[in-house]
Amino acid sequence: MEQNNKLISSVKHSKVQSDKVNLSISISKIKKDSHKLSEMYDFKKYMDSSDMNFPEDMLEMIPSDTPPYLDNGEHYVERIGRALKFFKQCALIGPSGTGKTHIVYLVAELAGLPMWEINCGLATSVFDLFGRYVGLGKENWIDGLITNWCRRGGILYLDEANMMKQDVATKLNPLLDQRGHMVLTEKDSEIIHRHKHAYMIISMNPVSSEFAGTKPINAAMRRRMSVWLNFDYMSVGDKIDDKEIQMVSERGNINMFDAETIVKIGAKLRQEYKMGDLPYGPSIGDLVNWARICSDGANVAEGGDETLVPMTSDDPEVQDEVRHIIKKIIESQAAANKTKV
Ligand SMILES: Nc1ncnc2c1ncn2[C@@H]1O[C@H](COP(=O)(O)OP(=O)(O)OP(=O)(O)O)[C@@H](O)[C@H]1O
Ligand SMILES: [Mg+2]
Repeated sequence: MEQNNKLISSVKHSKVQSDKVNLSISISKIKKDSHKLSEMYDFKKYMDSSDMNFPEDMLEMIPSDTPPYLDNGEHYVERIGRALKFFKQCALIGPSGTGKTHIVYLVAELAGLPMWEINCGLATSVFDLFGRYVGLGKENWIDGLITNWCRRGGILYLDEANMMKQDVATKLNPLLDQRGHMVLTEKDSEIIHRHKHAYMIISMNPVSSEFAGTKPINAAMRRRMSVWLNFDYMSVGDKIDDKEIQMVSERGNINMFDAETIVKIGAKLRQEYKMGDLPYGPSIGDLVNWARICSDGANVAEGGDETLVPMTSDDPEVQDEVRHIIKKIIESQAAANKTKV
Protein backbone atom coordinates (compact mmCIF):
# COMPACT_ATOMS: atom_id res chain seq x y z
CA MET A 1 0.00 0.00 0.00
CA GLU A 2 2.78 2.31 0.97
CA GLN A 3 4.49 1.85 -2.37
CA ASN A 4 1.25 2.51 -4.17
CA ASN A 5 0.72 5.66 -2.19
CA LYS A 6 4.23 6.66 -3.16
CA LEU A 7 3.42 6.10 -6.81
CA ILE A 8 0.17 7.98 -6.54
CA SER A 9 1.69 10.83 -4.65
CA SER A 10 4.58 10.97 -7.08
CA VAL A 11 2.20 11.44 -9.97
CA LYS A 12 0.05 13.90 -8.06
CA HIS A 13 3.01 15.95 -6.95
CA SER A 14 4.49 15.95 -10.39
CA LYS A 15 1.35 17.69 -11.55
CA VAL A 16 1.69 20.54 -9.12
CA GLN A 17 2.49 23.38 -11.41
CA SER A 18 3.37 26.96 -10.87
CA ASP A 19 0.38 28.44 -12.63
CA LYS A 20 -3.29 27.67 -12.75
CA VAL A 21 -3.46 26.94 -16.46
CA ASN A 22 -0.92 24.16 -16.19
CA LEU A 23 -2.59 22.85 -13.07
CA SER A 24 -5.96 22.44 -14.72
CA ILE A 25 -4.43 20.81 -17.80
CA SER A 26 -2.57 18.37 -15.58
CA ILE A 27 -5.57 17.48 -13.46
CA SER A 28 -7.69 16.75 -16.49
CA LYS A 29 -4.82 14.64 -17.78
CA ILE A 30 -4.70 12.57 -14.58
CA LYS A 31 -8.43 11.97 -14.81
CA LYS A 32 -8.11 10.98 -18.42
CA ASP A 33 -5.15 8.71 -17.64
CA SER A 34 -6.90 6.79 -14.88
CA HIS A 35 -10.05 6.55 -16.95
CA LYS A 36 -8.09 5.20 -19.88
CA LEU A 37 -5.97 2.74 -17.94
CA SER A 38 -8.05 -0.28 -18.86
CA GLU A 39 -8.09 0.86 -22.50
CA MET A 40 -4.32 1.24 -22.60
CA TYR A 41 -3.67 -2.45 -22.04
CA ASP A 42 -5.16 -5.49 -23.70
CA PHE A 43 -5.55 -7.08 -20.31
CA LYS A 44 -9.16 -8.23 -20.12
CA LYS A 45 -8.50 -11.23 -22.31
CA TYR A 46 -6.39 -12.63 -19.47
CA MET A 47 -8.01 -11.28 -16.35
CA ASP A 48 -11.17 -9.32 -15.82
CA SER A 49 -11.80 -7.32 -12.68
CA SER A 50 -15.54 -7.90 -13.04
CA ASP A 51 -14.93 -11.62 -12.38
CA MET A 52 -13.57 -10.81 -8.93
CA ASN A 53 -15.72 -10.76 -5.89
CA PHE A 54 -13.79 -9.83 -2.77
CA PRO A 55 -15.40 -8.99 0.56
CA GLU A 56 -15.83 -5.40 1.63
CA ASP A 57 -12.86 -5.39 4.03
CA MET A 58 -10.47 -6.35 1.22
CA LEU A 59 -11.57 -3.71 -1.27
CA GLU A 60 -9.22 -1.07 0.05
CA MET A 61 -6.32 -3.43 -0.63
CA ILE A 62 -7.01 -3.20 -4.36
CA PRO A 63 -4.76 -0.45 -5.78
CA SER A 64 -6.30 2.51 -7.55
CA ASP A 65 -5.00 5.43 -9.62
CA THR A 66 -1.75 3.66 -10.45
CA PRO A 67 0.09 5.64 -13.14
CA PRO A 68 0.53 3.92 -16.50
CA TYR A 69 3.56 1.72 -17.04
CA LEU A 70 5.53 2.69 -20.13
CA ASP A 71 7.45 0.25 -22.27
CA ASN A 72 8.73 -0.09 -25.80
CA GLY A 73 6.22 -2.53 -27.10
CA GLU A 74 7.29 -5.33 -24.75
CA HIS A 75 3.72 -5.56 -23.41
CA TYR A 76 4.90 -6.40 -19.93
CA VAL A 77 1.50 -5.72 -18.37
CA GLU A 78 -0.25 -8.20 -20.66
CA ARG A 79 2.54 -10.77 -20.29
CA ILE A 80 2.18 -10.70 -16.52
CA GLY A 81 -1.59 -11.09 -16.94
CA ARG A 82 -1.03 -14.11 -19.20
CA ALA A 83 1.43 -15.72 -16.78
CA LEU A 84 -1.00 -15.28 -13.89
CA LYS A 85 -3.90 -16.70 -15.87
CA PHE A 86 -1.96 -19.72 -17.13
CA PHE A 87 0.31 -20.50 -14.17
CA LYS A 88 -0.93 -18.35 -11.25
CA GLN A 89 2.59 -17.07 -10.61
CA CYS A 90 5.59 -15.49 -12.29
CA ALA A 91 8.98 -13.91 -11.59
CA LEU A 92 10.26 -10.41 -12.47
CA ILE A 93 13.98 -9.76 -12.74
CA GLY A 94 15.53 -6.33 -13.10
CA PRO A 95 17.76 -3.76 -11.45
CA SER A 96 16.42 -1.42 -8.78
CA GLY A 97 14.10 1.28 -10.11
CA THR A 98 13.00 -0.45 -13.31
CA GLY A 99 9.36 -0.37 -12.24
CA LYS A 100 8.81 -3.90 -10.96
CA THR A 101 6.78 -2.85 -7.92
CA HIS A 102 4.95 -0.28 -10.03
CA ILE A 103 3.84 -2.81 -12.63
CA VAL A 104 2.62 -5.28 -9.99
CA TYR A 105 0.36 -2.57 -8.52
CA LEU A 106 -0.87 -1.76 -11.99
CA VAL A 107 -1.64 -5.40 -12.74
CA ALA A 108 -3.46 -5.69 -9.38
CA GLU A 109 -5.55 -2.65 -10.25
CA LEU A 110 -6.41 -3.90 -13.74
CA ALA A 111 -7.26 -7.38 -12.44
CA GLY A 112 -9.18 -6.04 -9.43
CA LEU A 113 -6.99 -7.98 -7.00
CA PRO A 114 -5.99 -7.05 -3.43
CA MET A 115 -2.24 -6.72 -2.84
CA TRP A 116 -0.23 -8.48 -0.15
CA GLU A 117 3.39 -7.40 -0.11
CA ILE A 118 6.47 -8.81 1.59
CA ASN A 119 10.08 -7.76 1.31
CA CYS A 120 12.03 -10.97 1.82
CA GLY A 121 15.19 -9.01 2.57
CA LEU A 122 13.69 -7.79 5.84
CA ALA A 123 13.83 -9.86 8.97
CA THR A 124 10.16 -10.86 8.95
CA SER A 125 9.60 -13.93 11.09
CA VAL A 126 7.94 -17.09 9.95
CA PHE A 127 5.23 -16.38 12.59
CA ASP A 128 4.41 -13.02 11.02
CA LEU A 129 4.11 -14.66 7.63
CA PHE A 130 2.22 -17.82 8.51
CA GLY A 131 0.54 -17.12 11.83
CA ARG A 132 0.69 -17.78 15.54
CA TYR A 133 -1.29 -18.39 18.68
CA VAL A 134 -1.72 -15.32 20.80
CA GLY A 135 -2.08 -15.44 24.55
CA LEU A 136 -1.90 -18.60 26.55
CA GLY A 137 -2.95 -21.95 25.21
CA LYS A 138 -4.22 -22.80 21.77
CA GLU A 139 -7.38 -20.78 21.56
CA ASN A 140 -6.56 -17.70 19.60
CA TRP A 141 -4.78 -18.29 16.37
CA ILE A 142 -4.00 -15.34 14.10
CA ASP A 143 -3.25 -15.96 10.44
CA GLY A 144 -0.03 -14.47 9.13
CA LEU A 145 0.17 -12.55 5.86
CA ILE A 146 0.86 -15.51 3.57
CA THR A 147 -1.85 -17.62 5.22
CA ASN A 148 -4.30 -14.77 4.80
CA TRP A 149 -3.44 -14.45 1.12
CA CYS A 150 -3.76 -18.20 0.60
CA ARG A 151 -7.21 -18.32 2.20
CA ARG A 152 -8.58 -15.04 0.88
CA GLY A 153 -6.89 -14.47 -2.52
CA GLY A 154 -5.21 -11.52 -4.22
CA ILE A 155 -1.65 -10.99 -5.41
CA LEU A 156 1.15 -11.92 -3.05
CA TYR A 157 4.16 -9.85 -4.08
CA LEU A 158 7.46 -11.15 -2.76
CA ASP A 159 10.14 -8.55 -3.30
CA GLU A 160 13.82 -9.60 -3.12
CA ALA A 161 12.66 -13.21 -3.32
CA ASN A 162 16.23 -14.43 -3.58
CA MET A 163 16.75 -13.26 0.01
CA MET A 164 13.93 -15.45 1.24
CA LYS A 165 14.76 -17.52 4.28
CA GLN A 166 14.85 -21.26 3.79
CA ASP A 167 12.09 -22.00 6.32
CA VAL A 168 9.71 -19.67 4.45
CA ALA A 169 10.62 -21.12 1.05
CA THR A 170 10.09 -24.67 2.31
CA LYS A 171 6.57 -23.84 3.45
CA LEU A 172 5.75 -22.08 0.18
CA ASN A 173 6.88 -24.84 -2.16
CA PRO A 174 3.86 -27.18 -1.94
CA LEU A 175 1.63 -24.16 -2.48
CA LEU A 176 3.32 -23.31 -5.73
CA ASP A 177 3.04 -26.68 -7.46
CA GLN A 178 0.09 -28.90 -8.40
CA ARG A 179 -0.61 -29.56 -4.73
CA GLY A 180 -1.73 -25.95 -4.32
CA HIS A 181 -2.08 -26.09 -0.60
CA MET A 182 -0.13 -25.26 2.50
CA VAL A 183 0.17 -27.11 5.74
CA LEU A 184 0.15 -25.11 8.94
CA THR A 185 2.29 -27.40 11.03
CA GLU A 186 2.08 -24.88 13.87
CA LYS A 187 -1.71 -25.20 13.90
CA ASP A 188 -2.27 -28.95 14.19
CA SER A 189 -1.24 -29.30 10.54
CA GLU A 190 -4.30 -27.55 9.17
CA ILE A 191 -4.37 -27.77 5.40
CA ILE A 192 -5.23 -24.55 3.62
CA HIS A 193 -6.13 -24.72 -0.06
CA ARG A 194 -5.00 -21.96 -2.33
CA HIS A 195 -7.87 -19.56 -3.07
CA LYS A 196 -8.85 -19.65 -6.75
CA HIS A 197 -7.71 -16.06 -7.14
CA ALA A 198 -4.50 -16.31 -5.12
CA TYR A 199 -1.68 -15.28 -7.44
CA MET A 200 2.00 -14.82 -6.64
CA ILE A 201 4.60 -12.55 -8.21
CA ILE A 202 8.20 -12.66 -7.05
CA SER A 203 10.83 -10.10 -7.97
CA MET A 204 14.55 -9.73 -7.58
CA ASN A 205 17.63 -7.99 -8.86
CA PRO A 206 19.65 -9.84 -11.48
CA VAL A 207 22.25 -12.12 -9.98
CA SER A 208 25.64 -11.16 -11.26
CA SER A 209 28.99 -10.11 -10.01
CA GLU A 210 27.93 -6.51 -10.64
CA PHE A 211 25.20 -6.62 -8.03
CA ALA A 212 26.97 -7.03 -4.75
CA GLY A 213 24.97 -8.99 -2.22
CA THR A 214 22.61 -10.74 -4.64
CA LYS A 215 22.40 -14.51 -4.56
CA PRO A 216 20.63 -16.97 -6.82
CA ILE A 217 17.11 -17.93 -5.93
CA ASN A 218 16.62 -21.28 -4.28
CA ALA A 219 16.34 -24.06 -6.90
CA ALA A 220 13.03 -25.50 -5.66
CA MET A 221 11.34 -22.15 -6.11
CA ARG A 222 13.04 -21.53 -9.47
CA ARG A 223 11.51 -24.74 -10.85
CA ARG A 224 8.05 -23.62 -9.78
CA MET A 225 8.11 -20.36 -11.71
CA SER A 226 7.20 -21.00 -15.35
CA VAL A 227 7.51 -17.42 -16.59
CA TRP A 228 10.44 -15.08 -15.98
CA LEU A 229 10.28 -11.52 -17.28
CA ASN A 230 13.37 -9.36 -17.55
CA PHE A 231 13.12 -5.64 -16.83
CA ASP A 232 15.62 -2.94 -17.64
CA TYR A 233 15.78 0.85 -17.59
CA MET A 234 14.26 2.58 -20.61
CA SER A 235 17.54 4.40 -21.30
CA VAL A 236 20.98 3.03 -20.44
CA GLY A 237 24.43 4.22 -21.61
CA ASP A 238 24.14 5.48 -25.18
CA LYS A 239 20.70 3.98 -25.71
CA ILE A 240 18.35 6.89 -25.10
CA ASP A 241 14.61 6.39 -25.23
CA ASP A 242 12.55 9.29 -26.58
CA LYS A 243 9.55 8.16 -24.55
CA GLU A 244 11.50 8.54 -21.33
CA ILE A 245 12.53 12.08 -22.35
CA GLN A 246 8.92 12.87 -23.12
CA MET A 247 7.80 11.52 -19.75
CA VAL A 248 10.45 13.44 -17.77
CA SER A 249 9.48 16.58 -19.65
CA GLU A 250 5.74 16.12 -19.06
CA ARG A 251 5.78 14.84 -15.51
CA GLY A 252 8.55 17.20 -14.43
CA ASN A 253 7.18 20.17 -16.37
CA ILE A 254 10.47 21.10 -18.06
CA ASN A 255 11.44 21.67 -21.69
CA MET A 256 12.49 18.77 -23.91
CA PHE A 257 16.10 19.95 -24.11
CA ASP A 258 16.62 19.85 -20.34
CA ALA A 259 14.66 16.59 -20.13
CA GLU A 260 17.00 15.09 -22.72
CA THR A 261 20.03 16.22 -20.71
CA ILE A 262 18.62 14.68 -17.52
CA VAL A 263 17.76 11.39 -19.24
CA LYS A 264 21.24 11.22 -20.82
CA ILE A 265 22.82 11.75 -17.40
CA GLY A 266 20.49 9.15 -15.87
CA ALA A 267 21.39 6.67 -18.62
CA LYS A 268 25.10 7.15 -17.96
CA LEU A 269 24.67 6.76 -14.17
CA ARG A 270 22.65 3.57 -14.73
CA GLN A 271 25.37 2.18 -16.95
CA GLU A 272 27.97 2.85 -14.24
CA TYR A 273 25.68 1.24 -11.66
CA LYS A 274 25.22 -1.84 -13.82
CA MET A 275 28.99 -2.11 -14.20
CA GLY A 276 29.36 -1.94 -10.44
CA ASP A 277 31.10 1.46 -10.48
CA LEU A 278 28.30 3.34 -8.71
CA PRO A 279 26.13 2.11 -5.83
CA TYR A 280 22.82 3.31 -7.29
CA GLY A 281 21.14 3.70 -10.66
CA PRO A 282 18.35 6.30 -10.91
CA SER A 283 14.78 5.28 -11.75
CA ILE A 284 12.60 7.32 -14.06
CA GLY A 285 10.82 8.54 -10.90
CA ASP A 286 14.14 9.94 -9.63
CA LEU A 287 14.68 11.76 -12.94
CA VAL A 288 11.19 13.24 -12.80
CA ASN A 289 11.89 14.54 -9.28
CA TRP A 290 15.09 16.11 -10.51
CA ALA A 291 13.15 17.75 -13.35
CA ARG A 292 10.61 19.11 -10.89
CA ILE A 293 13.33 20.95 -9.00
CA CYS A 294 14.46 22.42 -12.32
CA SER A 295 10.90 23.43 -13.20
CA ASP A 296 11.05 25.68 -10.14
CA GLY A 297 13.99 27.62 -11.54
CA ALA A 298 17.08 25.55 -10.67
CA ASN A 299 19.40 24.69 -13.54
CA VAL A 300 20.13 21.05 -14.35
CA ALA A 301 23.40 20.97 -12.36
CA GLU A 302 21.81 22.58 -9.28
CA GLY A 303 18.85 20.21 -9.46
CA GLY A 304 21.23 17.26 -9.67
CA ASP A 305 23.15 18.49 -6.63
CA GLU A 306 19.98 18.33 -4.58
CA THR A 307 18.68 15.02 -5.88
CA LEU A 308 20.82 12.47 -7.71
CA VAL A 309 24.20 13.42 -6.26
CA PRO A 310 23.35 12.79 -2.59
CA MET A 311 20.93 9.99 -3.51
CA THR A 312 23.68 7.99 -5.17
CA SER A 313 25.98 7.94 -2.15
CA ASP A 314 27.10 9.66 1.06
CA ASP A 315 30.71 9.21 0.03
CA PRO A 316 32.13 12.60 -1.14
CA GLU A 317 34.36 10.85 -3.69
CA VAL A 318 31.42 9.06 -5.28
CA GLN A 319 29.42 12.29 -5.20
CA ASP A 320 32.24 14.04 -7.08
CA GLU A 321 32.19 11.28 -9.66
CA VAL A 322 28.45 11.83 -10.19
CA ARG A 323 28.96 15.61 -10.40
CA HIS A 324 31.66 15.04 -12.98
CA ILE A 325 29.34 12.90 -15.13
CA ILE A 326 26.60 15.53 -14.84
CA LYS A 327 28.97 18.32 -15.82
CA LYS A 328 30.38 16.45 -18.81
CA ILE A 329 26.95 15.66 -20.23
CA ILE A 330 25.66 19.19 -19.69
CA GLU A 331 28.70 20.49 -21.62
CA SER A 332 28.34 18.05 -24.47
CA GLN A 333 24.61 18.85 -24.74
CA ALA A 334 25.38 22.58 -24.85
CA ALA A 335 28.04 22.00 -27.54
CA ALA A 336 25.65 19.88 -29.62
CA ASN A 337 23.01 22.57 -29.30
CA LYS A 338 25.44 25.24 -30.49
CA THR A 339 26.33 23.30 -33.64
CA LYS A 340 22.61 22.84 -34.34
CA VAL A 341 22.02 26.61 -34.14
N1 LIG B 1 8.47 1.88 -17.29
C1 LIG B 1 8.03 2.73 -16.37
N2 LIG B 1 6.91 3.44 -16.57
C2 LIG B 1 6.47 4.31 -15.64
N3 LIG B 1 7.08 4.54 -14.46
C3 LIG B 1 8.20 3.85 -14.20
C4 LIG B 1 8.73 2.91 -15.13
N4 LIG B 1 9.87 2.37 -14.59
C5 LIG B 1 10.03 2.93 -13.40
N5 LIG B 1 9.03 3.83 -13.14
C6 LIG B 1 8.94 4.69 -11.93
O1 LIG B 1 10.22 4.64 -11.30
C7 LIG B 1 10.09 4.54 -9.87
C8 LIG B 1 10.74 3.27 -9.33
O2 LIG B 1 10.00 2.14 -9.73
P1 LIG B 1 9.78 0.87 -8.78
O3 LIG B 1 9.86 1.26 -7.36
O4 LIG B 1 8.57 0.17 -9.26
O5 LIG B 1 11.09 0.04 -9.15
P2 LIG B 1 11.54 -1.41 -8.68
O6 LIG B 1 11.97 -2.12 -9.91
O7 LIG B 1 10.45 -2.03 -7.87
O8 LIG B 1 12.79 -1.10 -7.78
P3 LIG B 1 13.41 -1.94 -6.54
O9 LIG B 1 14.10 -3.13 -7.15
O10 LIG B 1 14.36 -0.96 -5.93
O11 LIG B 1 12.27 -2.31 -5.64
C9 LIG B 1 8.60 4.62 -9.59
O12 LIG B 1 8.28 5.97 -9.33
C10 LIG B 1 7.97 4.15 -10.91
O13 LIG B 1 6.69 4.69 -11.07
MG1 LIG C 1 10.35 -2.58 -5.83
